[in-house]
Amino acid sequence: MAFIQTIVPLDKTCHDLKSFDCGQLAMNQFLNRFAVKHAELGLSSTWVLVEESTEIKQPIAAYYTLAGVTVSRASIPTQQSLPSYPIPVIMLARLAIAKQHQGKGLGAKVLISALRHAVQLAQQGLPAYGVILDALDDSALQFYQHFEFFEPMTDDAMRLFVSMNSLRLI
Ligand SMILES: CC(C)(COP(=O)(O)OP(=O)(O)OC[C@H]1O[C@@H](n2cnc3c(N)ncnc32)[C@H](O)[C@@H]1OP(=O)(O)O)[C@@H](O)C(=O)NCCC(=O)NCCS
Repeated sequence: MAFIQTIVPLDKTCHDLKSFDCGQLAMNQFLNRFAVKHAELGLSSTWVLVEESTEIKQPIAAYYTLAGVTVSRASIPTQQSLPSYPIPVIMLARLAIAKQHQGKGLGAKVLISALRHAVQLAQQGLPAYGVILDALDDSALQFYQHFEFFEPMTDDAMRLFVSMNSLRLI
């Protein structure tokens, strides 16, 4: 199966939101029901990797969603001195690979693309000290633990952090 090589913003007019199935209902439902609306409201942005297809709507092989949030200074696992007000970070709010493409290295590639995208946003002027994500379950946590740059946040073992300084090196 060939993919369109670039990751592009989700577009309901040409991407098939309904057929996406990563095996996690909540992740499928977010793409299907909320991703476009949340982008329109400015709450988050969703990006997709699509399959080459002759269909009118292209099947989605993978997606990720980014959002801007703040976290408390105390929750960040860093020695660096930070101000006491809430610290802005980019949240990798969703990342999912369609079932038929799982286990072939695509998750790792899309994760790195999402993190590089976050670095790019920071370079373009979006203030963000790092990237955080909430692992959906133990299995997702094990997937993220393959990437040694993530550290658990101090207040939640399922919430992982990586600083923008570390990400600039990947
Ligand atoms: C978790 C998910 C993103 C992984 O994607 P994937 O394409 O199957 O993963 P990859 O093939 O790129 O695997 C990369 C590495 O992680 C490991 N890995 C992947 N899924 C894993 C899991 N569930 N548990 C432990 N390790 C896992 C792989 O063995 C591989 O290790 P290796 O490089 O040593 O061979 C994908 O299974 C998925 O979308 N699941 C449903 C939605 C979900 O849980 N998303 C995460 C939400 S926070």
